[in-house]
Amino acid sequence: MQPNWTPDSWRDRPAQQQADYQSPSDLRQAADTLRRLPPIVTSWEIEKLKLQLAEVAQGQRFLLQGGDCSERFADCQASLIDAKLKVLLMMSAVLTYGGGKRVARVGRIAGQYAKPRSSAVETINGVTLPSYRGDLVNGIAFTADARRPDPQRMIEAYSRSSMTLNFIRSLLSGGFGDIHHVDVWDLSFVEHAEQPHDYLRLVEGMKASVRFLDAAVGRRLSELADIDFYTSHEGLHLDYESAVTELPPLRQGWYDLGTHMPWIGDRTRALDGAHVEFFRGIRNPIGVKVGPTMDPVELVELISVLSPDNEPGRMTLICRLGADRVLDLLPPLVDAVQRAGKVVVWCSDPMHGNTYKTADGTKTRHFDQILAELDHSFEVHADAGTYLGGVHFEMTGQNVTEVVGGARGLTEADLGRCYDSDVDPRLNYEQALEMAFLIARRIGGER
Ligand code: PEP
Ligand code: CO
Repeated sequence: MQPNWTPDSWRDRPAQQQADYQSPSDLRQAADTLRRLPPIVTSWEIEKLKLQLAEVAQGQRFLLQGGDCSERFADCQASLIDAKLKVLLMMSAVLTYGGGKRVARVGRIAGQYAKPRSSAVETINGVTLPSYRGDLVNGIAFTADARRPDPQRMIEAYSRSSMTLNFIRSLLSGGFGDIHHVDVWDLSFVEHAEQPHDYLRLVEGMKASVRFLDAAVGRRLSELADIDFYTSHEGLHLDYESAVTELPPLRQGWYDLGTHMPWIGDRTRALDGAHVEFFRGIRNPIGVKVGPTMDPVELVELISVLSPDNEPGRMTLICRLGADRVLDLLPPLVDAVQRAGKVVVWCSDPMHGNTYKTADGTKTRHFDQILAELDHSFEVHADAGTYLGGVHFEMTGQNVTEVVGGARGLTEADLGRCYDSDVDPRLNYEQALEMAFLIARRIGGER
């Protein structure tokens, strides 16, 4: 256990990006309700994911983390969850087959309901209201009523997270992840790709391998349907996270049982801040977003505070430096962490450093820039003798038009057609899958 730590010790530190609730007693009541509800995940699962991440840190596995920038209550629907899970599993199959590595599958799902904002308030036509901080805190409609932070939303978020994960667990235990389904994958976009034959060859190879394994064993291999899947979200809202943090029976420490792998956002990673204080005391595997302002010395200190035992699998660094800057900024960070002997998973989030606005103010990202940041990250790690162990995407299973580029060559003119994100632009089903093919080729090439 960490010295001088309790689930509430963060309250003595400056806490950025928190909800400004009007009634402390309503907040207390909601937190008490959360404390009495059964956990969403268990410490056993959390420890299992940590072991998988330890394998990633050692170069033996690959981490695939992805999902919405922000989940919405209204999106807690079977078809949407089903589609998100499906594309993540397809990506993971492609990475395993093409990249030759087992994959740790972690969704930005079942709890990704709180968002950091650049300003605490928003002004439209002379009216100023609190900013929307995600469905966990307030509503997006621009009315005083909707924007008032409501602690009851924490209960709603917890319930919907639990429903989402319950559905995911049912799908998986019913064989949803069965690799035999590769036969019915929708790959219609592939004909538009530059090298469609590469993708088709990879998929044909997967089908042949599955047929071979079944034939060799003499039955349909049920193990090929046995898929584990984990959840993650930004651990931003500390009243919420601390209320779902418990000392499970027969365990040595505290666990955030609202998700398997919470991460600290780039805006809330201050060494002396409340988020770092809260995260240092929980036993979950944790992530930290590493943006362009991170200094190498600061990064090493941060890892020392968050992972004092240097436990493999504990610490994932999710770098989001931007395609144009990663070649300059990443090497000194990798070098400092290496020299300090810190065991970490190096993960690349090629989304958040590559956001731009079109002339009409629509937020987007270009597929090629996303891929370029990944390519540069692979290069940096190859030069340093370290391992780029994972990728972190904002993506969805729907065919939205939020990110430009990809095999179908979406342009800025297409963005208006089906732009459904309230926050950051996501890869759509086809772009996400194409990205997996491209990454698999890069990991596979390393062998
Ligand atoms: C996010 O992941 O949606 C996010 C806000 O990222 P970052 O903390 O890297 O800016
Ligand atoms: Co985002």
